[in-house]
Amino acid sequence: MVSRVIPVDPFDLVIFGGTGDLAKSKILPGLFRRFVSGQMPPNAHVFGAARSDLSQVEYKEFVKDAICEFAQVDGKHRNLTPFLDQLRYVRVDVRGDVGWSVLKNMMHPEWVRAFYFSVAPSLFGDIAERLKRHKIALDDSRIVVEKPFGRDLTTAKALNATLASYFFEHQIYRIDHYLGKETVQNLMAVRFGNMLFEPLWNSQYIDHIQITVAEYVGVEGRGEYYDKSGAMRDMVQNHLMQLLCLIAMEPPSQFDPDAVRDEKLKVISALDGVSPHEIVRGQYGPGIRAPGYREHVGNSHSKTESYIALKAHVKNWRWAGTPFYLRTGKRLKERMSEIAVVFKEPPHSIFGEEAGRRRNTLVIRLQPDEGITMDVTIKEPGPGGMRLINVPLDMTFAEALGPSVSDVPDAYERLIMDVIRGNQTLFMRGDEVEAAWKWTDPIIKSWQGRGEIPKFYESYSAGPDDAQILIERDNRKWRGL
Ligand code: BG6
Repeated sequence: MVSRVIPVDPFDLVIFGGTGDLAKSKILPGLFRRFVSGQMPPNAHVFGAARSDLSQVEYKEFVKDAICEFAQVDGKHRNLTPFLDQLRYVRVDVRGDVGWSVLKNMMHPEWVRAFYFSVAPSLFGDIAERLKRHKIALDDSRIVVEKPFGRDLTTAKALNATLASYFFEHQIYRIDHYLGKETVQNLMAVRFGNMLFEPLWNSQYIDHIQITVAEYVGVEGRGEYYDKSGAMRDMVQNHLMQLLCLIAMEPPSQFDPDAVRDEKLKVISALDGVSPHEIVRGQYGPGIRAPGYREHVGNSHSKTESYIALKAHVKNWRWAGTPFYLRTGKRLKERMSEIAVVFKEPPHSIFGEEAGRRRNTLVIRLQPDEGITMDVTIKEPGPGGMRLINVPLDMTFAEALGPSVSDVPDAYERLIMDVIRGNQTLFMRGDEVEAAWKWTDPIIKSWQGRGEIPKFYESYSAGPDDAQILIERDNRKWRGL
């Protein structure tokens, strides 16, 4: 199956933080891939903006190396030179006056303008103010802002207010890269494009839902940021919350930015508070020849969690009585992200208890091997009477859709193209982010108030034992990592 590529309109994209890690590992390699696919028009321009005094040649060398490393292409790739020709470097002082008029003169008068704020949130206001003052950003220009969007409700509100004093909400694209993942969008396609699931999508038929985002990596290299953040702020408030919203929301009347975000907001607002016995925080200890969390972050007394497991309740008609178990952590056994929708057992077994009872489970796998499986109960083959077993109906996208599935854009590529197209469906609205903090804040305050120390778990394990207890006392089990 060949995926269709529809080129976007010509654009000028300015990346503030153009020499930073995100630009290097995701944004620039992603743009290159879109260029190769033909989606980025050959006359579009990408401007790297940063403080360093770099020549055009030096910046192009930097970008070339980044592309070779992260888009994994050979330095002689035939598209490299044409792509690099579309690139400009601008030295900009985001807190001063250097560079702004140069930038302004480089912009095309008619093309879509997008400004990617790949910098610390403390600089958002300075950049926004200068973009407006120098009339570089126009009324239809877009700005893209990265997480963390605040560290609590107060700071998120302040950031929203700062951005709102220069830009309209329809110009602000708050990125949560989980929303750009292919399977996450498939979640909506599966739910709302099929007749099969939606009638069963409620607490009458669904026993519980598990959302797992397990990482193999630790906090290597990001210790300073991470130790002030922790898994709750880094992953749960945004990525896991977005997954939960897509699973739990009502069908929007159309696949349109505000219709979708209105429904997500209703889910977040319906979340009940989480009591201390419904949440487990963990921190990884050292492994064989691998330093533990505290050593990684250089803080031998750190109380920050690198693991969270919690039980959430969505208080509405559809979900009353169906818990959502969420877990995420670093340095776990393997990298594995999935959403498992575990259905109830049939109310009565006509085969007798000795045949065993089984549940259907729909699993949406985000990574690795993106795909969807459905455990269906069948008769165990062979003689020996009626014994029931579960077999998976397995749809690994790579198998089902052929090799071109590996060419689908990764999350960042897709989201950047959506910015250029002016489609905000897969971006978070300001009120959504605030609602997520409103739910998160009391949970964090509660453990801070108790001075709670996270439970240690072994590096490369399945997480702290208490996380098992959290679910097992409800007579349920986590799916294996
Ligand atoms: C980022 C977090 O937003 O998501 C990281 O800050 C985390 O800590 C990453 O590792 C996970 O993203 P992915 O796409 O690799 O699952």
